Amino acid sequence: MPSSNLEEVQREAERLARTSRDAEEFMNALVKLIHERLLKYNWVGFYLLEPGAQPPMLALGAFVGAMTPHTRIPLNQGICGAAASSGKTVVVDDVASDPRYLACSLETKSEIVAPVFVRGKVAGELDIDSHFSAAFGREDQAFVEHCAALVGKKLETPHA
Ligand code: SME
Repeated sequence: MPSSNLEEVQREAERLARTSRDAEEFMNALVKLIHERLLKYNWVGFYLLEPGAQPPMLALGAFVGAMTPHTRIPLNQGICGAAASSGKTVVVDDVASDPRYLACSLETKSEIVAPVFVRGKVAGELDIDSHFSAAFGREDQAFVEHCAALVGKKLETPHA
């Protein structure tokens, strides 16, 4: 049976994790890969916890898509804050009906945010917006979590 596009992109992401010099290079390449290859993944970016910030703050890292006004997000705000503070993936099928949602683009209809863990602690997250409602099903969630885990591993072992 032919493999799905998601599986192909996942294998490509694994290859990039092996060949990138460090986590930063990997995240830059990964957001481009995901944005280019997956039709419904219309904004793809990382937020990383600012080291030492009190209160804790998510700062925008590598991304592809429209510029967002939300370059720094406290943990008590947004879908992004919810994922980072709970340590759980958040999937929102209809952003307009979620009061936590911080708008980036009027075109966004649904969103998924998966935490990135480093040595068991949230270090950041992979945030993806779609112009399609309910774009992220179970397979998408598994894919996005896998990508977030690859980044976590790369941050843990920068020279691996
Ligand atoms: N929608 C996010 C903010 C980030 S932008 O979408 C890029 C949120 O609600 O936290």
